[in-house]
Amino acid sequence: MNHIHISARNISKTFNRRQIFSDISFSTSAPGSIAITGKNGAGKSTLAKIIAGVLSSTSGELLIELDGKKLDDEARKTHIGFVSPYLNLYDEFSAMENLFLLMRIRSSHDCMDHEIEPLLKRFSLWERRDDAIRAYSTGMKQRLKYVFALAHSPSVLILDEPTANLDNDGIKVVEDVVTEQKRSSILIVATNDSAEAAWCEESIRL
Ligand SMILES: Nc1ncnc2c1ncn2[C@@H]1O[C@H](COP(=O)(O)OP(=O)(O)OP(=O)(O)O)[C@@H](O)[C@H]1O
Ligand SMILES: [Mg+2]
Repeated sequence: MNHIHISARNISKTFNRRQIFSDISFSTSAPGSIAITGKNGAGKSTLAKIIAGVLSSTSGELLIELDGKKLDDEARKTHIGFVSPYLNLYDEFSAMENLFLLMRIRSSHDCMDHEIEPLLKRFSLWERRDDAIRAYSTGMKQRLKYVFALAHSPSVLILDEPTANLDNDGIKVVEDVVTEQKRSSILIVATNDSAEAAWCEESIRL
């Protein structure tokens, strides 16, 4: 079992001279969970993107270590799963084609066969796997983001608005995923919902 550790030191973010947040510090090791809370516009999604490595901080340091070794940007992709309203799917391609593309970007196509089918089934998308994403409902798109995020069994799972657009069955699947993730790995949840924030042992308020 790999030992994963995240530490953020004095993270600040400025957009066009507007300070969004400053000097955010936290750290956690697996098993661990952190909620990111705060008002609309406080910077929850921004911080989630910085942790996921899709946006840089203006200052401060974010370190992800696996067995004591710092992960570079490339290695991060293979250890992080990210579900976010800002994640774009390729509308003209099917779910399977989107999965193949993302796996290639992540350079982890080896996990395709045995991981993807059970995940698509778990999220009730298996029957619709060859449909173009433009024909998906918003809840189906959200479910597909979970399939991407979980396909490589990430050590760090980052969820921004985890249950957006999901029905009760979808929410139940996400709650089970969250329970499993917290048990052995790291979970980070950015949310406005206090019940979702309560999934996590610790919280950061922006
Ligand atoms: N690309 C960008 N360029 C300029 N400003 C941005 C950009 N992205 C976000 N912001 C600003 O950063 C601030 C934080 O936005 P963010 O989306 O992180 O907030 P949030 O806490 O996730 O809000 P919500 O609860 O509405 O999801 C807002 O003032 C927003 O306008
Ligand atoms: Mg947000």
